[in-house]
Amino acid sequence: MSILESRFFYEFLGAVSAVGVIAILVWGKQRYLYNGLRSLPSPQGGNWLFGNGPQILAAVKAKKYFKLLFDWAKELGPIYVYWVGNRPVVILSDPKLIENTIINGMKNGSLIRTERSSKAWNDISGPILLGTSGTEWQWRRKAWNLEFTPNAVGKYLPIIDRACDRIIEKIKAAPSGSPVKADPLFVELTMRIISCLLLGVPVEKNSSSHEGPPLDVPRVYQAMSVLGYRFLKVAIGEKMWLKYLPTKSAREYWEARKYIEEFLTPRIDLALQMRDNPDKDWSEVSPLFRESMLVKIAAKETKYDRAGLIAESIELLIAGTDTTAHSLSFALSELSLNPKVAEKARNIVDRTWEKYGGITSESFKELSYIGAIFKETLRLYPVANGSTSLEAKQNTPIEDIFVAPRGTSIYWSVLAAGRDERYYHNPEELIPDRWLRTEESQTLPLTIGFGSGLHRCLGEHLSLLEGTMMLAMLLRYFDWELVNSGSSLENLQHNLLVFPVDGMPVKFKQRELLAPNRVS
Ligand code: HEM
Repeated sequence: MSILESRFFYEFLGAVSAVGVIAILVWGKQRYLYNGLRSLPSPQGGNWLFGNGPQILAAVKAKKYFKLLFDWAKELGPIYVYWVGNRPVVILSDPKLIENTIINGMKNGSLIRTERSSKAWNDISGPILLGTSGTEWQWRRKAWNLEFTPNAVGKYLPIIDRACDRIIEKIKAAPSGSPVKADPLFVELTMRIISCLLLGVPVEKNSSSHEGPPLDVPRVYQAMSVLGYRFLKVAIGEKMWLKYLPTKSAREYWEARKYIEEFLTPRIDLALQMRDNPDKDWSEVSPLFRESMLVKIAAKETKYDRAGLIAESIELLIAGTDTTAHSLSFALSELSLNPKVAEKARNIVDRTWEKYGGITSESFKELSYIGAIFKETLRLYPVANGSTSLEAKQNTPIEDIFVAPRGTSIYWSVLAAGRDERYYHNPEELIPDRWLRTEESQTLPLTIGFGSGLHRCLGEHLSLLEGTMMLAMLLRYFDWELVNSGSSLENLQHNLLVFPVDGMPVKFKQRELLAPNRVS
């Protein structure tokens, strides 16, 4: 019997044709559904089947995704759409439009965070702020908010001061004139601070912390990088179950998790014991640990169990380290390239230092220009774009400009938003004054680098405090120049976070202060 006479052949042919017809119908329906968006500008170079998908994938692989969104915004304007196959991703880059879209859309429920990235966050180690929404997110955020108000983080100034001092000592100890990579130094700074505040680990390198293992900055950083990279892979499509296969990357993931969990668990168990036995004598426990956020949160929010606290602590270590560290590296290099701004900043620091004998909570109020440098840096180099795009749950009008049909993904380019000349005059220039109490500052969008809406950054005030303190101290003690001049700022990696690929090597020179007693 020839194949043409076989019943099976015709059944098979019928099934294939049916699948083909269904696929064409789905394709046609999607095309029709999103047709209205075809009037928005769209990048060239896509193909009829995959749309701009191949360009996006290539950019992610080359670690230039945010750069691509920025370049397209320059070419196509503040609202454009790229296509992955038939599915649209609308990109916004007007800072106020981004802010309003996120705030209003999430408030009235028409826009929700995409399930994939939420799952990817929660898959790092368990449900966390970044991966939850609705009531699950609310109780978590409520618990942490109080620990991160400007007042609450202001109390940590002496700890931040000591951590910055350690970095100053490290730079002083480096051989004179030799390049020092600034970015890893700032990673050490921010990790020590968040570990101290969160877990009660002293910021001083050699002091022990008998509540758990010591903080080994490079190893914790390595483990965090593995977990962060895994988030990215899952967020862009990798199947979550792949972590159970015997592959190299799965092994690395489990090793990283084990290492971080061993660092955290003894502390978390102790915090839970303290919660369960409040009347026991805990005087053996160090005051730093008793005052840590972990102990306070465990006592305050009994919904948190061991696994929940481990997951949230990992999130805070990840969110609180690289972001501020890279922003400091960018600020350092911008100051080096803008001597007038640096000079003005240094005069303010010197004056304040002489008046108060160092940086104190009182003197901090006079350092708003330094804080403005940090904000301005974040405008020019927003290290985090916002991790989670939104999806229209229903047909959603975006400020009377267009309607996003149900299922449309909406994302944004903070890089392009920060350089929008309709809001920021001379957008390529470092102009800290624009953030100070001027007429212009009243109309500026918020520092959108910290995100928008409900999930806006929890650590914003802490980060500004760290940034201001570290920059003020560096200005006080050193002159510096970039080893690779402006190219450090051009050679950036743009995926989950934006950072300088070369680690920002800098040559520091100790300042010859007029009188030695000026250095306190
Ligand atoms: C320059 C420094 C920082 C930048 C640029 C930054 C940026 C951001 C952005 C853009 C978001 C929103 C993410 C989203 O929409 O999905 C965010 C959220 C968050 N940030 Fe930051 N961040 C910084 C520092 C910190 C610090 C120091 C901490 C903590 C110690 C922190 C903890 C968090 C947490 C926990 C969230 C999630 C909030 C939520 O989902 O409710 N961040 N951050």
